[in-house]
Amino acid sequence: MAEKEYRIPQHVAIILDGNGRWAKKRLMPRNMGHVQGAKTVEQICEDADSLGIKYLTVYAFSTENWSRPESEVGAIMKLLRNYLRDCIKRANSNNMKVRVIGERSRLSDDIRQKIDELEKASENNTGLNFTIALNYGSRDEIKRAVTEIASECADGKIKPEDITEQMISEHLDTRGIPDPDLLIRTSGEERLSNYLLWQLAYTEFYFTDVLWPDFNKEELKKAIEKYNGRERRYGGVIE
Ligand code: IPE
Ligand code: IPE
Ligand code: MG
Repeated sequence: MAEKEYRIPQHVAIILDGNGRWAKKRLMPRNMGHVQGAKTVEQICEDADSLGIKYLTVYAFSTENWSRPESEVGAIMKLLRNYLRDCIKRANSNNMKVRVIGERSRLSDDIRQKIDELEKASENNTGLNFTIALNYGSRDEIKRAVTEIASECADGKIKPEDITEQMISEHLDTRGIPDPDLLIRTSGEERLSNYLLWQLAYTEFYFTDVLWPDFNKEELKKAIEKYNGRERRYGGVIE
């Protein structure tokens, strides 16, 4: 694919899935799939940037993922600590601005501190806007936004009839980030699993059987190629 010939989506959102199955296929513990999956995330940030994508948002841990066995959750959190630490260095060498969305109070203090450091250290970077969804659930995000708006109403700062779609968007964790143009989910599953329900209203979806640890630049290009064949109508008609 000649990169210049294609319309590059401004914002790509990814549901990275299939780490466990990748490991199982190799008779390895599930955690090895997460280790490899984290490496794929690092590489795909560079690939997305080199293709001209401006925003990349990945689903790393959902509000539902706490229901996994304690040993797996513990292993993911350990991996996350290392990942966040390395990410500070990489963000600065790659000029990447990193942001974390999701509910933070359930994360441990040291992880929260690393997130703050990472966001602060990379806030002035002007390259790829990389967003990590951690303890993220779209319904939880919407619930938190509704609570904030309701208390602004109760305090008399706004009236219920003044609530706009824009105001709702601005109360979500993704405030300031344009809605995704393309959503990719790996591993053959075709569902949203509580990811960006509001933001994906008009996003094009691409599903692939490739397991996340095997996902690479070629696969990303295939998704972009497919996206280029789609006609986005936003409810209107194309003459
Ligand atoms: C995605 O891979 C990573 C997380 C949800 C943390 P999975 O761990 O869901 O892998 P499968 O779906 O079991 O193969
Ligand atoms: C979605 O994957 C969550 C993340 C990628 C972090 P899951 O593997 O948890 O989703 P389900 O359980 O198949 O819907
Ligand atoms: Mg899964």
